[in-house]
Amino acid sequence: MSQARSHWSNRWTFMLATAGSAIGLGNIWKFPYMTGVNGGSAFVLVFLACIAMVGIPLMMCEIMLGRRAQRNPIDGMHALAQEAGSSRHWKWVGVMGLVAGILILAFYSVIAGWILHYVVEAARGSFIGMDGERSASAFQQFLASPLELAVWHTIFIGMTLGVVARGVNAGLEQANKILMPSLFAILLVLLGYSMSVGDFQAALHFMFTPDFSKVTPTAVLSALGHAFFSLSLGMGAVMVYGSYLQRHVSIARTSIYIALADTLVGLLVGIAIFALVFANHLEPGAGPGLIFQTLPIAFGRMPMGTVMGVLFFVLVAFAAWTSAISLVEPAVAWITENSRLTRKQSAWLIGIADWLLGIAVVLSFNLWQDIRLLFGLGIFDTLDKLTTTIMLPLGGLCMAVFAGWYMKTSHVAEELDISPLAYRAWRFTIRYISPLAIVAIFLYLTGLL
Ligand code: TRP
Repeated sequence: MSQARSHWSNRWTFMLATAGSAIGLGNIWKFPYMTGVNGGSAFVLVFLACIAMVGIPLMMCEIMLGRRAQRNPIDGMHALAQEAGSSRHWKWVGVMGLVAGILILAFYSVIAGWILHYVVEAARGSFIGMDGERSASAFQQFLASPLELAVWHTIFIGMTLGVVARGVNAGLEQANKILMPSLFAILLVLLGYSMSVGDFQAALHFMFTPDFSKVTPTAVLSALGHAFFSLSLGMGAVMVYGSYLQRHVSIARTSIYIALADTLVGLLVGIAIFALVFANHLEPGAGPGLIFQTLPIAFGRMPMGTVMGVLFFVLVAFAAWTSAISLVEPAVAWITENSRLTRKQSAWLIGIADWLLGIAVVLSFNLWQDIRLLFGLGIFDTLDKLTTTIMLPLGGLCMAVFAGWYMKTSHVAEELDISPLAYRAWRFTIRYISPLAIVAIFLYLTGLL
């Protein structure tokens, strides 16, 4: 089952690209904040267990499906189902993932646009002498301006589809080869900086002091859900990246490295952020506001705050950019492989669709603030909830069930190529543990548990 198509140059570029997809806005504000409210290191331990027990097996599963199929997620699931002698309806898993990616990018791009705006604000020295009130009102004012939000959203969509249009090697691979090492380098600089000027001890204490009383069932389930989102699972992003992977690369080993990199970045960014927050006696549990309202105050008060502020937001922008690319690659690959459109034209098509959807998201922060869609939520929250709490877990569940119960064992074993014992453990996980865990997250997130 193979056709002539592009492949990553080597396993490093695959790992960089998949780590690039995984490391995103989720790691930079959500993970540190969740750690803080859910019991510090106790939560970190639970999260690591979720990554190891559900995240890594599912990542192996998704890469395995993609590499075996050597196609985009829709045609890939179709071909794999055919090979396994099961229903062609499995292709709908691919369809759902593709749509989820397009929907996620619509709001991801708007938030990433805020990040770009903050790069410029930091560079202009706007953080200098900032206090809580000014910081909050600057953020509110920015959100109230549809035009400004739309301009930055447009730029980010252009950046994302611009890379995807250039294809796997000249686009995705090249971008990740530059952006990911830069991201790691900036992270080290920021960490060194916050170690020297920040309150490192307080940050470590905040993130790593175990408080098992806070490890409630809710905390466990949110760790599980976040493990899922953080590794970019359930959507076909990892599947399409796996479809560009050469045969000889070990899927198990690369999955473990990617999961480790993703977790490590979350932890290190968290330490760097909280060291600055605590040194300035600011509020650590602010969620989304943390990087847009709290951090600028810290940068504005510290030596070299302007340079470091710029570096911080550039770091976040790079992380968001490499994640965004993976959100639309399945759709662009599918259109390119199924129509006469070139990759560039397909990228334009998806870009325009996402730009339009994103404009609705932009307006939901100001002019269309009162519009309510699903579950009484606004446009932004509807897209977020629909994708991350329904479509992604459902996609992951289907992939696990398909690989665990429908595919021929010999095909799966051949693709994974691990020791018989490891294979048995993996298979048990993917057949029983992952589906149960996903059903639990699903019920929990939709409020039924
Ligand atoms: N993992 C990314 C983050 O942490 C977000 C992301 C990118 C994603 N691609 C995805 C999540 C695919 C789910 C599915 O920000």
